[in-house]
Amino acid sequence: MSDHWTNYWQQGHLTSFGGGFKTNYEGELKNFWQRFADNIAEHSSVLDIGTGNGALIELIQKNHDFNCVGVDKALIHKDYINLVKGELLSGVSAEILPFESSRFDYVISQFAIEYTNIDKSLEEVIRVLKNKRNFVFICHHPESVIIKSNQEILNISNEIKSKLLTSLNVLARALVEEDHDLINSSFEFIDTFTFERCGNIHGLKGTNLLSFVDFLKKNQGKKIRFVEAFKLFQKELELLILRLQELTQAADNLPLIINKLNQENIDLEVGYIREDKSSTLLACFLYAKATKF
Ligand SMILES: C[S@@+](CC[C@H](N)C(=O)[O-])C[C@H]1O[C@@H](n2cnc3c(N)ncnc32)[C@H](O)[C@@H]1O
Repeated sequence: MSDHWTNYWQQGHLTSFGGGFKTNYEGELKNFWQRFADNIAEHSSVLDIGTGNGALIELIQKNHDFNCVGVDKALIHKDYINLVKGELLSGVSAEILPFESSRFDYVISQFAIEYTNIDKSLEEVIRVLKNKRNFVFICHHPESVIIKSNQEILNISNEIKSKLLTSLNVLARALVEEDHDLINSSFEFIDTFTFERCGNIHGLKGTNLLSFVDFLKKNQGKKIRFVEAFKLFQKELELLILRLQELTQAADNLPLIINKLNQENIDLEVGYIREDKSSTLLACFLYAKATKF
């Protein structure tokens, strides 16, 4: 994993959906964790793996008082370390948990365990639990709307990388040199590329290409550092591709999680989380059948 999660959490987001959820998770995700919180004993010790800036801990602590610890491999934002009712530990890998065996009543994780080395992290989850059945995970599903829409963005990002970056670079240099013929032919090529993909406007918007081209058009003739702006766009595109590749890979890890837990002789309850009032698939949940909540 690169350090892009550290960059992300340092921007101050609480959830992993950027501007998607303004305060904390809403709808069925929120309801799921509130149900969990309402059904476990007060003062239970709860470990949240891949906690980010502690969104899950904040949700379950709202009307309760648990002893929560959140861990993440990335660097957690210092403001949240003080705000969230629990201990948040940065730089902690799920594959090597710094806790004694049987330390926790519950281990929870949302959109995180699937990013880890499943064999090692699940062995650690089982080791730190008092009862190996008391874990609850929400995981990405390869067919969810989250994965499908990000897959569209990933496909277009890869096309931009292979088919458009050279033209954008040429354009940036032509704008500096005010070579009008080259500027016009480059814009024409780029506009054709976007026009041919306007059926996937969601994917295009997700890449930032449209606003970057708009920025170049509006600033033609001005003394702007176009080449530096291009390099920044290129760097952000590379990071986006990396993040989305990790995301789709994480969703594909779901069967590995189920297999590993089956090998541990844990009879699993696997279900779907769907958007409010629709059948749109958001994610899936996993817990041991005997878990009471
Ligand atoms: C999609 S975010 C989920 C954050 C949070 N659970 C939420 O629901 O908003 C995935 C998180 O898992 C963390 N992560 C990835 N691999 C990890 C590992 N091996 N050990 C611990 N954390 C990891 C990332 O740093 C990131 O913060």
